[in-house]
Amino acid sequence: MKLKICLCPGDGIGVEVTREAVRVLEHVVRKFGHDLETSEALLGGIAIHETGTPFPEDTRVKATAADATLMGAVGLPEFDNWPPEKRPERGLLGIRNALGVYANLRPVRSYKALLDKSPLKNDRIDGTDMVIVRELLGGLYYGTPRGITGSGPEQRGTNTMTYTRAEIERVTRMSFELARGRRKKVTSVDKSNVLEVSQLWRMVVTDVATGYPDIELDHLLVDNCAMQLVLNPKRFDVVLMENTFGDILSDEGAVLAGSIGMLPSASIGDKLPSGAWVGLYEPVHGSAPDIAGQNKANPLGAIGSVAAMLEYSFGLKDEAAAVNRAMEDVLNSGRVSADLGGTASTSDVGTSVLEAI
Ligand code: IPM
Ligand code: MG
Repeated sequence: MKLKICLCPGDGIGVEVTREAVRVLEHVVRKFGHDLETSEALLGGIAIHETGTPFPEDTRVKATAADATLMGAVGLPEFDNWPPEKRPERGLLGIRNALGVYANLRPVRSYKALLDKSPLKNDRIDGTDMVIVRELLGGLYYGTPRGITGSGPEQRGTNTMTYTRAEIERVTRMSFELARGRRKKVTSVDKSNVLEVSQLWRMVVTDVATGYPDIELDHLLVDNCAMQLVLNPKRFDVVLMENTFGDILSDEGAVLAGSIGMLPSASIGDKLPSGAWVGLYEPVHGSAPDIAGQNKANPLGAIGSVAAMLEYSFGLKDEAAAVNRAMEDVLNSGRVSADLGGTASTSDVGTSVLEAI
């Protein structure tokens, strides 16, 4: 198979972890007899520095021409006081929107070797295996009206949480399809006791569910879900929610995995004529400026994102499994980075994964 991938390493540790992820990808492609063609593009703070905008046209062209895009992270502290529309993060929202990736899949699982790294009790988290499906192109992130208007005591900040039936339907269908290949359970998360947008969400999810009689559906209010995630994480299989709820709860999920450095993510849109699914793959963690450039960051979230790319965009399940198994081997061997209590560098961890594959 030919894999056309656009690489956007971005800012901070994004550069280091993407380098290791690409080494792993190249290795897998060689080993399994595929063909890889990569392009590299600017995104985030580095793109602001070099082109004046966080999501340059050249990046849009390269990413939309590729089958899938692999990203590192975006964000630099020097832009902290800039308005939202100029910040590096806007580059991420721009590329998500340009690619039309409406479903963000964030798998959260516990690893035996990391049970002690979580502040939660081992028996609570052992066996956790869920996928958070976060709607990625709607809600507060993109809704209008938005902005800051007026002045003095009447100065007002506004964002709008809004969803159409069609937006809810497509991400819901993706969740039910995903559940079919798993434990056949979907939990939909909302705040329907207060918000109309959530009432519509619950209505649409319930409607879509009638087409999936083999899948069990339950609904949880988002505040209760935040609590159940740490009280009883094993109850979850596929957990579906809107954009902002998913942003918040997926960071909470990181506690279950032992370190946010472990978490991969896959953002999926529609199917391409080539048969691949449009996909944007990135670790859940940010650019971590405090440790950037020190070869210290954990690349396993980025490497896991490569596995997700092989599986979801290209349907290469054996290749994905080989990467996931190698990651597990490395965790068991203890050759891990500082966030997991080890002394291995970013590139050491990458090399260990290569060897394990
Ligand atoms: C994430 C991040 C992004 C988001 C930021 C960097 C814009 O927190 O992917 O979870 O809020 O979506
Ligand atoms: Mg986030």
